[in-house]
Amino acid sequence: MNSLNLNVSGLPKSATLAINELSQQLQQYGRTIYKFGLGQSPFPVPMPVRQELIKNAHQKDYLPVEGLAQLRRAVAEYYTRKHGVTRHTNQVLIGPGSKELMFLLQLVYYGDLVIPTPSWVSYAPQAHIIGRQVRWLPTKREDNWMLSAKELEKHCRKDKNRPRIVILNYPSNPTGSTFSEQQLKDIAEVASSYNVILLSDEIYGELHHQGAHQSISRYYPEGTILSGGLSKWCGAGGWRLGVFVFPEAYDNIKNAMAVAASETYTSTSAPIQYAAVAAFQESPDIESYLNKARHILKMLSDYISNRFGEVNISGPKVDGGFYIFPEFTAYRNQLRERSVTTGAELCEYLLEKTGVATLPGSAFGCPEGELTCRLAFVDFDGERALDLYDKYFTKNGDAQKYLEQACPKVLDGIELLIEEVRNW
Ligand SMILES: Cc1ncc(COP(=O)(O)O)c(C=O)c1O
Repeated sequence: MNSLNLNVSGLPKSATLAINELSQQLQQYGRTIYKFGLGQSPFPVPMPVRQELIKNAHQKDYLPVEGLAQLRRAVAEYYTRKHGVTRHTNQVLIGPGSKELMFLLQLVYYGDLVIPTPSWVSYAPQAHIIGRQVRWLPTKREDNWMLSAKELEKHCRKDKNRPRIVILNYPSNPTGSTFSEQQLKDIAEVASSYNVILLSDEIYGELHHQGAHQSISRYYPEGTILSGGLSKWCGAGGWRLGVFVFPEAYDNIKNAMAVAASETYTSTSAPIQYAAVAAFQESPDIESYLNKARHILKMLSDYISNRFGEVNISGPKVDGGFYIFPEFTAYRNQLRERSVTTGAELCEYLLEKTGVATLPGSAFGCPEGELTCRLAFVDFDGERALDLYDKYFTKNGDAQKYLEQACPKVLDGIELLIEEVRNW
């Protein structure tokens, strides 16, 4: 008998990947599947970044473990420019995806992991693998399921000096909601008074639908580690490039992470790092790409929220990214008659009846019995959607007409869900 590490044994495969595999199986049986499960950007990598990758295909040497100096400088300048908090090259760490950097952070830092419910699927399993305690903090519907300063304060007060990392993710996966400026200030004040390390996961920041993302690092610069990367706003999930930006006080954490990285992945792919420099530099082409992507995502989330509203399905306000988090509580009785009493059963039921793939709220730490799911409205050809955009929005654009042309599968999937709900 081989013996598995008990921290890994019994851990299920990531919920996101599992739903994708199930959808693929159903597709093999000829079913049309509306792939709203996996949270992958539909948009292409912007042209200036792609061109840089082609130019740098010959880069074959290992790079420094902390990352390519030019890229680290570009990242530091980018965050300084965006958030008005001065950051320098030596405060930046580059990794093969921010997910890997989060893992290394938990590995080198000995403390609890504090995360709000709901939260992205991978934070807690990473903590389990490493053997850290996970503390889930409750959130409220009226706060759009975002963490409140009050709840954080209540948690910290119980054990004032306990080392802990609190992860904030906004715009949020799974809800699409973000914090207001006041909420950020209030959380920063609590974090600062308890010396909490904040890991601010801003991977969807550039996809704030109004282009108005604000970082908590502005209000708690001394204690915030900023996390970002190319996966979401740059459509480059498969390129695997993530970044962490540290306050000076956490130089020891950054250095320990670099040591762990040097003994595991050595360094991040060289051509990808050279290409990424262009993604972090100021560029009118990238700004224009982002403005279009944001508007397309906003039109879609407005459309879906309105349609769901017609059948009494509510959810938190979507401010950014490509997720929506509908709640089917109004149909609890009708669903019970169909033997659906949990979020997971709801998602299976919807997939079977309509072909729409979603993820249950329980995958994000919500109670099993909560009838919520995350819907990623990304099943469309982003390249085509960007091309069509110019055609429709040079004059007075008509959002409905545009979406019918550019994102037909998303609209069809939503229609099928609405029809299903009307039958209940
Ligand atoms: C909230 C959140 N954080 C982090 C990540 C990890 O991104 P990456 O490892 O591709 O940088 C994801 C990816 O799905 C995410 O949704």
